[in-house]
Amino acid sequence: MPVLGLESEDIAAIQGRHTMQCWSSQSGYAPVAVAKAEGCWIHTQDGRKIFDLRSAHECINLGFNHPKVIAALKAQMEEVIYVTDDFATAPTAKLSRKLAELTPGSPNKKIYFSQSGAASVEVAIKAARLYQYNRVFHQGGTVDAPSQYPYPYKIISRYHSWHGSASGAASASGDPRRWFQEPLTVPGVVFAPDANPYRPHFESLERHFDYLNLIIEQEGGRNKVAAFLVEPVVGSNGIIVPPDGYLEGIRALCDRWDLLMIVDETMTGMGRTGKWLAIEHWDVEPDIIIMGKALGAYCPLAATIFSEKVARSFDDHLFGHGQSYSGHALACAAALASIEVLTEDGLLEQGREMGQYLGWRLQELGREFDCVGDVRGLGLFWTMELVKERRSKTPLRRATEKYEPTIVKQVSEFLFRERQVYVPSDKFGLWVVPPLIVTQEEIDFLIAAIKDALELAETLLTQE
Ligand SMILES: Cc1ncc(COP(=O)(O)O)c(C=O)c1O
Repeated sequence: MPVLGLESEDIAAIQGRHTMQCWSSQSGYAPVAVAKAEGCWIHTQDGRKIFDLRSAHECINLGFNHPKVIAALKAQMEEVIYVTDDFATAPTAKLSRKLAELTPGSPNKKIYFSQSGAASVEVAIKAARLYQYNRVFHQGGTVDAPSQYPYPYKIISRYHSWHGSASGAASASGDPRRWFQEPLTVPGVVFAPDANPYRPHFESLERHFDYLNLIIEQEGGRNKVAAFLVEPVVGSNGIIVPPDGYLEGIRALCDRWDLLMIVDETMTGMGRTGKWLAIEHWDVEPDIIIMGKALGAYCPLAATIFSEKVARSFDDHLFGHGQSYSGHALACAAALASIEVLTEDGLLEQGREMGQYLGWRLQELGREFDCVGDVRGLGLFWTMELVKERRSKTPLRRATEKYEPTIVKQVSEFLFRERQVYVPSDKFGLWVVPPLIVTQEEIDFLIAAIKDALELAETLLTQE
């Protein structure tokens, strides 16, 4: 079918020549031309049918091209696609209210809409600093150790974290991808260790919190630190589910030091872990929540959700932020339709059920292979961490080798070329993150493919 006057078979070559690919050397960019995408599958122009095991980087929790979302988009396009926020539209208003109600805490929240997770993280950081400014200068709060900078501004983030590639978000990310930003990182971020039950840094949670407390104290406590930023379940740095008590402990620490707790649910929101938000697995109310990716179904939409306490801070003081296309009506209509589908089709329950089955099959498979160090996850958010041998836990690919042609990369190429499963390789091993509509039959297909890939990994390991 001709596309913009081009024969469709030219599309891959043209895109390869003229489009920059994310996080890649460009000369090797060879995208595969797509004919259509439906459910969990991408149909290529050369007749292949490929399962997307990363749900398009966690953006398509509903699977591709859900008819109800498409219908909502078409209907909204007939009315209004975008107006500025001096005007109200039904989707923007209703989505704001819905997110305020769906998320933990009082429904008197307020939402700021952006188009990417990174942008929403930066909104959260800026708002946390402005909140602290208002607290100190307008609400009678005190700073008892005056210095050059008169209000709390530091953000505690964690080494195993990724909050996006824009300057501010990358600067607040511990992931080695931050190094592309250095030395021009945005100042004011302090990194802390994360809580990884497979590779613990401390003998107990108590010791862990002693250390976090020390960091906050040494960074100036309530005089200097504005917020603690966490992914409730770490995504790009290894799908790390924290031990019970950890996120509750972070909340308590924030309360003790007057810090805001910012929870980045860009990857884990919209039912990915079996609940609307991953934080709901624990009894914690954050001050600021970030959503993105699957929020807009197929549209670029992200949200920074302010608790009543934080939102009130801006009632009479300037919220010093703004951008074009905030609260985009079309994207908000897609998000509302997506929430409706997740609710009406019971996809959270289904995701929990399928997640249990997937987890069980992965654990069972993992036990067969010495190169599988750990199998962990929640809902439909799973990983197999790959190691040289289970006993030593030596990673099969170090964090600095993400772009190197290692066995982990060969495994992902094998899955794509030989087993019709798309799962881009990463530092720690295999992502197993199917759309929430995945069926048991599809999980069985995935397990068989992963088994073959692990056999390949072990053969390649013996050749090293
Ligand atoms: C937890 C988290 N926050 C923020 C981002 C950045 O989102 P975006 O790529 O939409 O800027 C990501 C992206 O992977 C993420 O996983």
